[in-house]
Amino acid sequence: MADKRIYLSPPHLDGRERELLLEAYDSNWITTLGPQVDALEQDVCKRTKIPYAAALASGTSALHLALINLKIKPGDEVLCSSFTFSATANPIMYCGAAPVFIDSNEETWNLDPVLLEEELRECRKKGKIPKALIVADLYGQSADYDPILKICEEFGVPVIEDAAEALGATYKGKPAGSFGEMGVFSFNGNKIITTSGGGMLVSAKKEYIDHARFLATQARDQAPHYQHSHVGYNYRLSNILAAIGRGQLENLDRKISRRKEINSFYLEAFAEIDGIRFMPIASYGEPNYWLSCITIDPTKLKITREDIRIALEKENIESRPLWKPMHLQPVFKSCRFRGSKVTEELFGVGLCLPSGSGMTEGDLNRVTDTVRKKCSGK
Ligand SMILES: Cc1ncc(COP(=O)(O)O)c(C=O)c1O
Repeated sequence: MADKRIYLSPPHLDGRERELLLEAYDSNWITTLGPQVDALEQDVCKRTKIPYAAALASGTSALHLALINLKIKPGDEVLCSSFTFSATANPIMYCGAAPVFIDSNEETWNLDPVLLEEELRECRKKGKIPKALIVADLYGQSADYDPILKICEEFGVPVIEDAAEALGATYKGKPAGSFGEMGVFSFNGNKIITTSGGGMLVSAKKEYIDHARFLATQARDQAPHYQHSHVGYNYRLSNILAAIGRGQLENLDRKISRRKEINSFYLEAFAEIDGIRFMPIASYGEPNYWLSCITIDPTKLKITREDIRIALEKENIESRPLWKPMHLQPVFKSCRFRGSKVTEELFGVGLCLPSGSGMTEGDLNRVTDTVRKKCSGK
């Protein structure tokens, strides 16, 4: 029989999740509001030192409400990281606006502030400034916010930080999610902490969070009957799921240090292999090491990223190519793109390795043995 499957980043329940879940169940609050939802919002605010938070059904819905808060409408343009998951860009389309994708730099794999500035200068010449920027913090590492925020301030462009993958990471000592007008976290099943599915919108500005909470609960006006002056959404997080999230959040630090250990394990295991490189860790911050990512140099190793992915799959180990950049996705083919081949090339050679905080030493050895064997031509 094949060995147990090793997943890329499965849920890891290792704390009080069950206890809190039963507490929610026994209290009969099994709806999209309740004490666990309130407590999770407070816990995240406390942990990140961001003053206000609204727990939502997903990171995607949080991004959508962030754009609505900024009054993004059909015909607008919104700048967006190209090297990310499609959920970063899809909410721009929900608003009827057009994404304009920006490439990454090689030093951080995150959005390149130089290209951002170039694009905005060009936009000014054309007389149409984009209405917002969504920056993704890639694989748990923050983008370079000092230059990004400076440029955006010059052009009056509000920033949304898509920190879906980066809860617990920092940039110059400040928490991921706290940059720009609003930040977004995801509690999807593959993230560093999970509520099975869920997300959060955070901000230093109360009015954004109040309005998001209002819209997320079907935009009900103050009245004894059902009265609506806005189009609403059903985007709130269930009290049951919030309970799981609270249990998870209590152990966020432990999860980050385990993922960092996993990253160090891979670094050490592949140190001798000329042709494997890791995602660079920028000196400006501390990632949460959500996923450990490598690139394979086919000229040095005589094998490709796909050869390694397939070898891992044969051993019942899940790995994934790095994000296919948004500007190369068929659905966004008509969108403008500023950049060159940085993310296109990373996509061609890059692989995300299993990084779940529940991985054992045995699991890690299975991964590294398979990769090493393949690289040595066996
Ligand atoms: C960068 C990024 N943005 C947004 C999302 C969307 O979050 P969710 O799955 O909670 O909607 C994800 C993950 O799924 C993500 O990785």
